[in-house]
Amino acid sequence: MVPLLSSPSPFGEGAALGLIGAVAAVAGVLLPPGELLFGHYRVVPAEAAFKKYAEWGKQYKSDVLYFQTFGSRWIVLNSLKAAIDLLEKRGSNYADRPRFVMFEEMGWAPTLTWLRWGSKYQLHRRVLQPPFSKSRIGQYTDLQRREALIFCQGMINDSDNWPNAVRRCSVAIVLKIAYGLDVEGPESKWIGIAEDSADAIGKAGAPGSSILDLFPLTRYLPAWLPCMERLRYAHTWRSAIETITNLPFEASLNQMASNLDRRFFTHNRVAIHTEAAQQGVETEFDLEDIKGAAATVLIAGNDTTAATVMLLVLYLMQNPEVQQKAQAEVDRVVGRDRLPTCDDLPSLPYTRLVLNETYRMNPLSPLGIPHATVADDVYEGMFIPKGTTVYPNVWAMMHDENVYAEPHRFWPERYLPRGEGGNEEPLPVGNFGFGRRICIGRNLAENSLLIVLATMLATVDIGWPLGPDGKEQKFEPQWSFKGQATVVPFPTRINSRSEKAKKLLDVEVDAVTRKTF
Ligand code: HEM
Repeated sequence: MVPLLSSPSPFGEGAALGLIGAVAAVAGVLLPPGELLFGHYRVVPAEAAFKKYAEWGKQYKSDVLYFQTFGSRWIVLNSLKAAIDLLEKRGSNYADRPRFVMFEEMGWAPTLTWLRWGSKYQLHRRVLQPPFSKSRIGQYTDLQRREALIFCQGMINDSDNWPNAVRRCSVAIVLKIAYGLDVEGPESKWIGIAEDSADAIGKAGAPGSSILDLFPLTRYLPAWLPCMERLRYAHTWRSAIETITNLPFEASLNQMASNLDRRFFTHNRVAIHTEAAQQGVETEFDLEDIKGAAATVLIAGNDTTAATVMLLVLYLMQNPEVQQKAQAEVDRVVGRDRLPTCDDLPSLPYTRLVLNETYRMNPLSPLGIPHATVADDVYEGMFIPKGTTVYPNVWAMMHDENVYAEPHRFWPERYLPRGEGGNEEPLPVGNFGFGRRICIGRNLAENSLLIVLATMLATVDIGWPLGPDGKEQKFEPQWSFKGQATVVPFPTRINSRSEKAKKLLDVEVDAVTRKTF
């Protein structure tokens, strides 16, 4: 029999091995010791497990780690090579997802992100992928620029509450694309609805890692039991998921009755569905599928973009020399008599490196969204059974000292050739996932982030907040690792770069808000 995993055994080190560790040692399986009853369930930390996995990878000198509890097993891929070898090169065998029992309890409609491998999944991917392909996202650049301009104006006008402008911007882009709906203003109900659902997912823990996912039968236990906190959590947030799935969809149906615009996802798919029904043809993508798919776009697209914009602001604040260098690039390419457009983006290579370095410093999903194996596999002598959950440890890959010098330093120049003062390090890979399940919105997100960043660089100066003595007050930001890895909203100092920049911004915002997109 092929061993499950192979690397130097950690089990000779201590006497306190549980049964799992002992059995594993006999079988030649190498993994951190587990416990008799719970396997690795209580050994893996509930928060920031990616750091512990990275540590174990070094300790056991293996870039693939294996874990198990009753009936569930998972591997963690700590290196880019292992992730590419398995999730990309053998992509069809790694395209499944584990069953997300916790999310089922939350009441999701059919949603690409959580769908298991199979015909339903393939149908959703086939329908959702084309509108977000590189060749088609150009149709959204006016919308993205409009929202970037409104965002920067919002930051300046209400700088104490700048995270509100971030949320508004990221919701507005995907709400329009998914449903054709507009965010009416900073108090729009759509922002609150999107925020609730982002909270529901963001604090649910790493996908597939809760007690409900690992011991599915626990979903039938009474929710009041002290150990069933996750079940109570799922039920508490159920209404947020139902609301975000139903409300914008219903609003979109009402809107398209009088003003059909096929550029928007629900308009297009519902029109196809209705026309087919009129001809007596049944479509395979029914209304429930359209509803779930549109909600996927809104949920998967808004919070991720917002969280990345928060990071951009953080790193610009912490690294004034990077900010000035990027501003100088924007000034050189765009000049100071107008504001950037999406056509300028290809001419802003340093700005793009700032974004890449942001991806690397803090990948939002440090353990990705887990894949699962469709069939048994063997990798470098290790046996990986069918149904194994697979976590790419993107954080470990992006903080590997063998690849990135001083990995905790924000240094966009690291990617430049040595002749240009850089270190010729590779651009980070994995922030948007891998293989067949790679994020469908990655090109759209990148455009949104780049135009937001370029517009920020052109119009605002970001600095540490000032204390009562007028001096900069530096601080360590707080992080949340409950589900995604995000920075907690923090105070910052935002000023318009110049009177002229402010004026340009006001004129442009006035013009774009008059135009209907
Ligand atoms: C900075 C922004 C974003 C980040 C960091 C991000 C990250 C990710 C990651 C890590 C995955 C899992 C990939 C895998 O399983 O290997 C994913 C999947 C997905 N993303 Fe994104 N995403 C972003 C923006 C968006 C946007 C704007 C959309 C909407 C169009 C979107 C839609 C999706 C969907 C539908 C999936 C599920 C794909 C599948 O399971 O087949 N994402 N994303």
